Amino acid sequence: MKSLFAKKLIVANWKLYIKTQAEAKALYKSCVVVASQLKRTEMVLAVPFVFVSHMVKRKNMHVGAQDVSWAVEGAYTGEVSARMLASVGVTHVIAGHSERRDLAGDTDEQVAQKVKAALGVGLWVILCVGERERATDGSSLVVVKRELLASLKGVSRMLAGHLIIAYEPIWAISAHHPKSVDTPESTLEMAIYIRKILHDLYGKATASRIRVLYGGSVAPENIRGFLERGGVDGALVGHASASAGKFTRILHETEMSYSQDV
Ligand code: PGA
Repeated sequence: MKSLFAKKLIVANWKLYIKTQAEAKALYKSCVVVASQLKRTEMVLAVPFVFVSHMVKRKNMHVGAQDVSWAVEGAYTGEVSARMLASVGVTHVIAGHSERRDLAGDTDEQVAQKVKAALGVGLWVILCVGERERATDGSSLVVVKRELLASLKGVSRMLAGHLIIAYEPIWAISAHHPKSVDTPESTLEMAIYIRKILHDLYGKATASRIRVLYGGSVAPENIRGFLERGGVDGALVGHASASAGKFTRILHETEMSYSQDV
C-alpha cells in the first residue's frame, strides 16, 4: 500500500525524558538543522507544555503538545486548553495516549471531548489507539475499532480532515527490545483496518486525508520496515526522539524509505 502523502510524518513525543529548558533548547536546535535538509519528511515536536513557547514553527517542523484539556474554559485548575495552545503557536496535539489513559485516567468520553475541543480551534489531533495485549485471535482489531469509534464520537466529517491516527500497540510502547516490537506485517493489517473504519465513518475523500502512523519502540533500526511494509504514513516516536543522534537517524532513514505496493 503506497502512502498517498508526499511527505512522511514523524512525531517526536518527548514525554518526560527532557529534563531542563537547556536540554529542550539543545534538542530543538538539532531538530531545526535536520528539518531544513528534509525533502520527503516533516516532523512534529510534541513537547511538554512548559517548553511549547520556546519552539517556533520551521520548514518541515511543527510544534505539538502531548495532551490538551477537554475543557474549554472555567474553574479547571491545572488544565491547558486547546485555545491556549493554539495562541502560543501549537498546531498539533496528541490525544488519547495510553499513558494519559493510565496515568490521568482519561476515559474514551474525555478523549472524544479533547479531540473535539482541539479540532474545534483548528488544531491537528494525533489520536492514539492500540490494544493492550497482542492477541492471535483477531481480537486486537475489535479493541482498536471500539476505541476508535468511542474516541471519535461526535467528530463531524468536516472536522475529521485534521485527524491523524497513531496506531500504538500498548505492549510495544517502551519495549525497546527487538522481539517485543510489532512487525510491519501486522501493522499493515491494522493500518488497512483503521483506514476502512475511517472510510466507513467519513467517506473516501476525508478518509484519504487522514494519516495513519505506527508507534511503539520505533528506532533507527526498525523505522524503514514500518514505513516500507507497514502501510503507514509515518511514526510516533517516544524514547528515541529524546536523543538527537537517534532521532536524526530516524529522520534520515525516513527520507530514504520507499513505501512499496504490498
Ligand atoms: P516509545 O514510545 O517509542 O518510547 O515506545 C512511543 C509512544 O508512546 O508514543
